[in-house]
Amino acid sequence: MRIITVKDYDTMSAAAAKIIAEQVRTKPTSVLGFATGSSPVGTYKQLVKMYKAKKLDFSQVTTFNLDEYCGLPKKHNQSYYYFMMENFFNHVNVPKGNIFLPNGVAADFKKECEAYEKKIAGKGGIDLQLLGVGANGHIGFNEPDSVFHNKTMQVNLTDSTIKANARFFESMNDVPKTALSMGIGTIMAAKKIVLVAGAEKAKAIKELEKPIVSPQNPVSILHYHPDCTIIFVKE
Ligand code: GLP
Repeated sequence: MRIITVKDYDTMSAAAAKIIAEQVRTKPTSVLGFATGSSPVGTYKQLVKMYKAKKLDFSQVTTFNLDEYCGLPKKHNQSYYYFMMENFFNHVNVPKGNIFLPNGVAADFKKECEAYEKKIAGKGGIDLQLLGVGANGHIGFNEPDSVFHNKTMQVNLTDSTIKANARFFESMNDVPKTALSMGIGTIMAAKKIVLVAGAEKAKAIKELEKPIVSPQNPVSILHYHPDCTIIFVKE
């Protein structure tokens, strides 16, 4: 694991976008894993800028998002589908049929999760996964637990995550209590990982400086990934 420290959010975003752009230029048919949250928004902006300047082409790219809230339809303005459309897909040329997110309103979540795993495998796996990190160390929606969960599944959000994400909803009661999330195994199978973390994640990143891997701090699993870059804004 490489931890690169940068001076501000824009530098972090530019550095992450550069790695993603290189991936797409080297392999135009790349399978990209995407994340939501405020941390990667700047990265998406940079990628859109490159696309608009005709420096990047997503026409052969396939994407899989990490997670989606259960119970929110695509058109809900807090669904991760909506977030991705607004912040990225509406502005670039990823073919609509190549965009995959777990379906938070699927009739059968178990089946939906199994199908999602199969879809990822069917596309040859993820070449590059972009990640953020929750204040409690979660990646995707893999919350601190006594074990690492491997596969995409329906997960319960912790009270601290519900509280942290309440800022985007009218009230805390409106925050979904469960989500569908890629598992730790799904994330770890990505060939390359890039994690972006702003200055407000200092505590989570400090923990990572210790050589301790524990499901109580899900992000710590990245110590075992062979090609993981963490871009962190150090104040
Ligand atoms: C959500 C997402 C995570 C994200 C985290 C941090 O819980 N499921 O994928 O990393 O929020 O969000 P932010 O970047 O806004 O701090």
